[in-house]
Amino acid sequence: MHMHSSPSLFRLTTTRVAILLACSTVVVGAHADRGKAAPGLQSSVNLPEQSQGKPPAWAGKAFRQGVVSAANPYAAEAGAKILEQGGNAVDAAVAVAYALNVVEPQSAGIGGGGFMMIHMARTGQTVIIDSREEAPAGATASMFVGQAFSRRSLQGVAVGIPGMVRGTEMAVNDYGKLSLSQVLQPAIALADGGFAATPRFVGSTACSSATSRAKNSPVAAEYFCPGGDFRAVGSLVTNKPLAQTFRQIAAHGADCFYRHMPEKGCDIALGIIEGQQYNQPNLSPIGKGGSMTLADLAQYQAKLRVPIEGSYRGHRIKSMPPPSSGALTVLQILKMLERFPLGDASQGYGFGALKTANVMADAMRLAFADRAIWMGDADFAPVPARGLLAKDYVAIRSQQITPGARLNPNPSADDPRPYEMAGLSAATRLAVAAPPISHENGTTHFSVVDKWGNVVSYTNTIESGYGIGVFAGYTLPDGSFKNHGFLLNNELTDFNTTPTTNPFTGTAGFNDVEPGKRPRSSMAPSMIFNPDGSPLMAYGSPGGATIINSVVNVTINLIDHGMTMQEAVDAPRLSVSSANPTITVDPWFPAATVTALGPLGLGYAVNLSDVGSVQTVLIDPKTGKQYGAADARREGTVIGLPRSGGR
Ligand code: GLY
Repeated sequence: MHMHSSPSLFRLTTTRVAILLACSTVVVGAHADRGKAAPGLQSSVNLPEQSQGKPPAWAGKAFRQGVVSAANPYAAEAGAKILEQGGNAVDAAVAVAYALNVVEPQSAGIGGGGFMMIHMARTGQTVIIDSREEAPAGATASMFVGQAFSRRSLQGVAVGIPGMVRGTEMAVNDYGKLSLSQVLQPAIALADGGFAATPRFVGSTACSSATSRAKNSPVAAEYFCPGGDFRAVGSLVTNKPLAQTFRQIAAHGADCFYRHMPEKGCDIALGIIEGQQYNQPNLSPIGKGGSMTLADLAQYQAKLRVPIEGSYRGHRIKSMPPPSSGALTVLQILKMLERFPLGDASQGYGFGALKTANVMADAMRLAFADRAIWMGDADFAPVPARGLLAKDYVAIRSQQITPGARLNPNPSADDPRPYEMAGLSAATRLAVAAPPISHENGTTHFSVVDKWGNVVSYTNTIESGYGIGVFAGYTLPDGSFKNHGFLLNNELTDFNTTPTTNPFTGTAGFNDVEPGKRPRSSMAPSMIFNPDGSPLMAYGSPGGATIINSVVNVTINLIDHGMTMQEAVDAPRLSVSSANPTITVDPWFPAATVTALGPLGLGYAVNLSDVGSVQTVLIDPKTGKQYGAADARREGTVIGLPRSGGR
């Protein structure tokens, strides 16, 4: 049992996480043969070994000169190269982000945005650069009303002002050692010279499906499914238009992306504006373009945020504040669970046990009920962050959880405001807003540590896989198309579809669309810290609302179940992302527990599906040795430096 309550035990457990990590190369679960490289793959970069049925080469290996962990081998390589060239973790993370735009374009890129958590070893400061997409000035609360997800998410109206280029420029200028131009070079080389198509690059395109997001527009269809068919795994893929776009940014900085400056050859802004006017012509009634203007683009700024900090069994955890619901929901779930001995098999808990799954599921349901009401962009709405994490409030919420029984009826949100501000009386209980539906496959998480001990935890996104399925680009006077080579996001679908305006005050709901507002995210780039304030580990995940639960699962795996870092990543995860009793588990979750949770047992609906893709790095606080873990659910890859140095 791990119900720790003294600082010395905290230290013990913290160290144990690191030591255990170094000792084991076991891959938990029966999924190790999934994601096998198709025969004939001729990649110059090796695919992760655990996706070929073997424990990953990096498991338990220690490094000293830096570690990069990303969801794609080429992207990890880009980050490692920048570290070898003298860049720090921030430079390497930015290089990874641009490289992913080339090799994992369905997930993230300069047409979207993200959250980059940075810990600087010299100052001990941890900050987050928020490059979240933003609603344009012409956006309205009712712009999605009556538009089913299958419509609104494939239309220009869903496109938020992209943030990644401003965010990465801020990161490199304020926290990096190299220039934006230098860190862009690996991505330019990949886009220009090409890469061998990986199984995931090919497999996610769904070329045979008429409704594939990858084929939403003719230019995207031709790129991802040339001639209407799948690309061959291992075949060379280039993206010359994207290489050209990156060169423009490298030469003239972020302004070349956000401002139309023909005198400098900067025309990317024109491509974003025309791209987000996209109406899917086959839809009836006809689709809806976006309202974004050049002025919207020109005013976009990345924002520096302070992470929200909490603790779980004495371990300090920092994660993403609003506009994300990440930190608040992750920490609320963990705090509700702290009173249960999740690691203790002798009390009927332990990894994968029914009791553990039951209390985790109901803690998630309670937190997601609060999330639906109380979380949104805190620059617009008074998010009661302190109240949501207040000890007494969390205790009252947690009291509703009963091991051995499903929380019934579905929990509603409670009112955390009295715990936020003294003197405000408790309001009546609030109804549960529509459950968030996760359609997201278009996000990626990567983590980096450098030789100086700087750490980055970066989740980046274009929302759905392929975003709106439209490349930025514009029509030239001769009728030809100038393609900029990157997909536009559909991030604004993270706002409420139907406005939840207060009828008495006219005040917008916390996550209703408003001009200039950032849609509520679930992204939760996170770090665990040692008692002395130094970072122990960086982690995070894609997966829409399930991101929160992936972070919760990995945290519990490490702290309660004593797994190594790679085991904690590989172990099957459990996720509930609304107040409803619907659980999703990885297909290799213990079958007996799935049955016992299901309709003939506790009465949850249980779906089997991959949950998240977690990439982590860890620094052993005793030795300073660095480790990485990556996820076989995608093409997760760890590269440690020096390359000969792992042992
Ligand atoms: N695009 C995923 C999120 O922001 O939650």
